[in-house]
Amino acid sequence: MTDLIKISPSILSANFSKLGEEIISLDKAGADYIHVDVMDGHFVPNITIGPEVIKKLRPLTKKIFDVHLMISPVDKYIEAFSKAGADIITFHPEATENTSKTIDLIKKQQKKVGVSLKPKSSINLIKDHLNDIDLILIMSVEPGFGGQKFMPEVLEKLKDIKKILSEKKLKMDLEIDGGINFENCKLAKDAGANVLVSGSTIFKENSGNLKKNISLLRSN
Ligand code: DX5
Ligand code: ZN
Repeated sequence: MTDLIKISPSILSANFSKLGEEIISLDKAGADYIHVDVMDGHFVPNITIGPEVIKKLRPLTKKIFDVHLMISPVDKYIEAFSKAGADIITFHPEATENTSKTIDLIKKQQKKVGVSLKPKSSINLIKDHLNDIDLILIMSVEPGFGGQKFMPEVLEKLKDIKKILSEKKLKMDLEIDGGINFENCKLAKDAGANVLVSGSTIFKENSGNLKKNISLLRSN
């Protein structure tokens, strides 16, 4: 993966009563990825969408579906999300008994593998898997809801991971997710993130001017 900054708008902050139109607008507004937050009300205290909705959204855009699974168990749903049209499937090692097995299940579906860490989770959970994954997602809020406050303490973890990846000469997406705005996005990039997830900033700032907000996050 390159180090160009990519923006992955989270549809959790979109208008769910017209999700299809919102996907098309994000595509036209220059989103690099579309971040789809899947929540099961068990791993996180919120419930959002499943494979059926992703399947309906898939034909509307060619943009990469960056699917963030905040679900547990996770293994039995990998095939359904793959067939629905996910391109990157990101799971939480905290949500599975066997991280290697979940990685293999995603690879078997020929999808890119992402692993996500909650703010308080250690990088030790993923250290042994770095050669087998395509993306690391660092949560800068407790997973479950959009519009929360950025947790700057995760920037140290981001720097540590960036250092390990550079030492091992591993190239992959380093994605940060939660409370990203025009003020802290530079801190995230300087700490090593090359993919920024944003929901509320992109959908709410500048009267919801998606194109302007995406380019501001990319350039700030
Ligand atoms: C939270 C989700 C995030 C969230 C980002 O559990 O994983 O993707 O939707 O939304 P903002 O940018 O509003 O924090
Ligand atoms: Zn997310």
